[in-house]
Amino acid sequence: MSNPYISGTGYYLPPRVVTNEELSNFMDTSNEWILERTGIEERRYVESGVGPSDLAIPATEQALLAAGLTVKDIDFIIFATSTPDYYAPGSGCLLQEKMGFGEIGALDVRVQCSGFVYGLSIAEQYIRTGMFKHILLIGAEVQSTAMDLTTEGRDTAVIFGDGAGAAIISATEEDRGILSTHLHTDGRYVKELWLEAPASKAGHPRISKNDLDEGKQYLKMNGREVFRHAVTRFPEVIIEALKKNKIEQKDIGLLIPHQANLRITQMIQKKMGLRDDQVMSNIHKYGNTTAGTIPIALGEAIEEGRISEGDIVVFASFGSGFSWASAVMKW
Ligand SMILES: CC(C)(COP(=O)(O)OP(=O)(O)OC[C@H]1O[C@@H](n2cnc3c(N)ncnc32)[C@H](O)[C@@H]1OP(=O)(O)O)[C@@H](O)C(=O)NCCC(=O)NCCS
Repeated sequence: MSNPYISGTGYYLPPRVVTNEELSNFMDTSNEWILERTGIEERRYVESGVGPSDLAIPATEQALLAAGLTVKDIDFIIFATSTPDYYAPGSGCLLQEKMGFGEIGALDVRVQCSGFVYGLSIAEQYIRTGMFKHILLIGAEVQSTAMDLTTEGRDTAVIFGDGAGAAIISATEEDRGILSTHLHTDGRYVKELWLEAPASKAGHPRISKNDLDEGKQYLKMNGREVFRHAVTRFPEVIIEALKKNKIEQKDIGLLIPHQANLRITQMIQKKMGLRDDQVMSNIHKYGNTTAGTIPIALGEAIEEGRISEGDIVVFASFGSGFSWASAVMKW
């Protein structure tokens, strides 16, 4: 049976930098407040007309180059996004056409901040069964257009940004790659971090003038509740993955947690007794790009030489749903 490993990565951030200072022109906030509560200094926003499938193109080109592959080698596309270009069809279909992939399958995964780890788990199964040899896995988001950029939406708006990461999951006979993945959801907390409209269950039309007036088209978050669950679920799902593989905390080469908030990452690190060099953080530059954070951080970690062959790399995520997940790999 083949093992699934990451043969190439890439990432892309739109060029427009939005600083905390700039946000304070639209809403009652400050650089100090944002920095102290979240660790975020700036984030990137797309220009209007740009969707996650557009951001995914340069990320994919980079990942293919790193893997020494071309579009012809890819057997399947998994596109993790909670902010698809359109309600239908999925962003994976758009990417397939834009990059000239063959008539391969394209699957959108909508598990918000955990989308990339869920996607990794799906790719893992296809590779292990021998169905596919090379899978393109994307995590890409355009969150800026779901932000209420007024004082009313400031608790959520300062956190999120746009960006894309890509990884090629390939088959190998070597003793390396994904060791296990762990997936969880608790739907009792759907409304603690959600985007309510447009909605098929809203009737005709799927979004009304009233919904717009109430701001239902914006992402809404109960920050305190999200924080409380995140700092429990992250360590829990990381420990679950370590136990499964009989790996100790000290043996983690690099933990790449979903970049939700610097304070959350610091609490995970503290609870797990990890050193600074064992934990990846880049939230200060990009904010929370939802499904994009892990593949973007992975791409940067590789560029910075923070991962070597044989290292134990752990991914962990928590977000809207609530959904949380982890993956362990031997690099
Ligand atoms: C969102 C978050 C930063 C808010 O921090 P907090 O310390 O919980 O702050 P609170 O929500 O209690 O708000 C404290 C005050 O700051 C205000 N405030 C909220 N957002 C603000 C902003 N951007 N700028 C300035 N003040 C703000 C609130 O209105 C409140 O004012 P009040 O005391 O006058 O009512 C924090 O809850 C958090 O990080 N949660 C997790 C979010 C997350 O990671 N989401 C992604 C998960 S995938």
